[in-house]
Amino acid sequence: MNLLIFIIIIQQGYMKSKINTLQEYKAVYTASVNEPDLFWSEIAKQFTWSKPWETVCEFDMERADFKWFKGAKTNITINCIDRHLKKNAEHTALIFEPNSPKEEAQHISYKELHEKVCKMSNVLIEMGVHKGDRVAIYLPMIPELAISLLACARIGAIHSVIFAGFSSSALAARINDSQCKMVITSDGGFRGNKTIDLKSIVDEALMQCPSVQKVLIAERTKTVITIKKNRDFYLAPLLDEASKINEAEPMDAEDPLFILYTSGSTGKPKGMVHTTGGYMVYTAYTFKNVFAYEQRDVYWCTADIGWITGHSYILYGPLLNGATSLLFEGVPTFPNPGRFWDVIDKFGVNQFYTAPTAIRALAKESLSHVQNRSLASLKIIGTVGEPINEEAWQWYHKNIGKEKCPVVDTWWQTETGGILISPLPHISPQIPTYATTPLPGVQPVLIDDNGNEITDTEGSGKLCIKYPWPSIARTIWGDHNRYKETYFTAFPGYYFTGDGALRNKEGMYRITGRVDDVIIVSGHNLGTAPIEDAINEHPDIAESAIVGFPHDIKGHALYGFVTPNKDLPDLNGMKEAINTLISKKIGPIAKLDKIQFTEGLPKTRSGKIMRRILRKIAEGDFSNFGDISTLLNPEVVEEIKNGRQN
Ligand code: WTA
Repeated sequence: MNLLIFIIIIQQGYMKSKINTLQEYKAVYTASVNEPDLFWSEIAKQFTWSKPWETVCEFDMERADFKWFKGAKTNITINCIDRHLKKNAEHTALIFEPNSPKEEAQHISYKELHEKVCKMSNVLIEMGVHKGDRVAIYLPMIPELAISLLACARIGAIHSVIFAGFSSSALAARINDSQCKMVITSDGGFRGNKTIDLKSIVDEALMQCPSVQKVLIAERTKTVITIKKNRDFYLAPLLDEASKINEAEPMDAEDPLFILYTSGSTGKPKGMVHTTGGYMVYTAYTFKNVFAYEQRDVYWCTADIGWITGHSYILYGPLLNGATSLLFEGVPTFPNPGRFWDVIDKFGVNQFYTAPTAIRALAKESLSHVQNRSLASLKIIGTVGEPINEEAWQWYHKNIGKEKCPVVDTWWQTETGGILISPLPHISPQIPTYATTPLPGVQPVLIDDNGNEITDTEGSGKLCIKYPWPSIARTIWGDHNRYKETYFTAFPGYYFTGDGALRNKEGMYRITGRVDDVIIVSGHNLGTAPIEDAINEHPDIAESAIVGFPHDIKGHALYGFVTPNKDLPDLNGMKEAINTLISKKIGPIAKLDKIQFTEGLPKTRSGKIMRRILRKIAEGDFSNFGDISTLLNPEVVEEIKNGRQN
């Protein structure tokens, strides 16, 4: 494309506003690929920067080195909050819907959010947190969670949110990996009819975390907790005392904004590092386009802020657009399976974004829960986290979207920071199970088994991305080599996603699932290695292998093949012990659905467990194991087949 056409596109304002037609999408997409620097600088100009950038994008795929908006300075909270105060101070930024429908919801305006974040920022400073320090946040979905992230961002501290369903050892491992100075937590959390004692989990974790100097505690459940003198402080009295004036720290576009851990194929979680400028520009732009957000809409993403979806599309993306974003503390089935639909009607939610696992779980319930509600406010419905099966897509489209709301099946990852492939509502065609087309600036490719890019339109292979986008993760905290190895060495010159995908005649993408040892259970990424490590710690276990098998609601569930090192008198007791161990080491989300004890595991001559065979057995597919004669111990295959758990 020549510069002239590009300038015409800019003049027509395609960049600044939402993309409105398929023709516009095509023009913008072409411009974004041909002139990425010009394209992204036009988008970035819409934000407040205290210093402009020297270059838009500098990168080296081989060294996994990415810089966006180099030299520019801003603070993301200025763009999330302060920027809206002039015109929209009274507009609701966050709606908090508590776990119990009997408890009153809270509406927090931009002005109130500003005050709360400034106060919290001052508390952090008072407690000795400086720019660049890491702060662990282990909180339920309450307003303090959102405020804590924003306060860290405001003072330039790097937040590391750890999902409040993780166990004390998982929490400790993450705190230690990035040497957090502070933990922000609460006395407890409500989830459905359960109360979780978060503070006692933190106490246990901190026995192994010497870097943590201070713990701030939000009061939620009024649970009795232990207070360690000079370390633990209730938050409320500190906030009462704090000034509501705080000047945001000027941050370099490439200063880290946060670390968020994700599972990998090897034991240690990967602390993905996202930086300030690119992440800001990209999440804002994609939020506006994918959810076609219009002023005064009420937007609801049901994820937890403990995951990337919550970071980018509950908090940053919506606030950057001055939106109203709903924060829901509860679970979809409490007090009954109509809760999501009640909340939509209660607040007149316009955009609703959830996970396929939630859709499948709610589709199993009586349709009366949906039919008793109006859902008339909905305009757009979305999904994220794993491939959505056709049945769930149709149910969602028909019963929730009433066949009038476009479904945006958004594909992306913790590593990508924002949505990369997704339909644009009322623009892209609706093809169930297809994430369809890349967003502007994103260049997906498929790689075949020989490592070559598939140039035919139609094809299937490993999904890679060939050019950086602004919110690509910059590194793994403390381990740039691992970052390079994991994402940039399998196919030199490309970012490798770890997913498989197919592309149809029209160039639409359908994501088929992970091609590595990560299994997605109820939308949570779980690496098999840490679970196996947890099991193998049991003194009576020699080794184990975890594979996924299809599950009606969870998408995939975990099947463990476990080899004891002696005769076990009580196999059921051992199954319980294994799941208890996993809960303790990782968290209840990683518990196994099925456990089979085996004499041995099928291994290659080099000693690698042949997961392919175990996967087939777990799925109940006994056809075509391939050539097993090359195995070290082919005889175990028959034994494992016969002992399969139904
Ligand atoms: C999967 C979540 C199919 C995929 C934002 C990816 C999806 C992993 C979709 C990242 C989708 C996410 N269709 N698969 N729409 N969205 N995935 O890091 O396997 O928790 O690699 O980020 O989820 O999960 P993560």
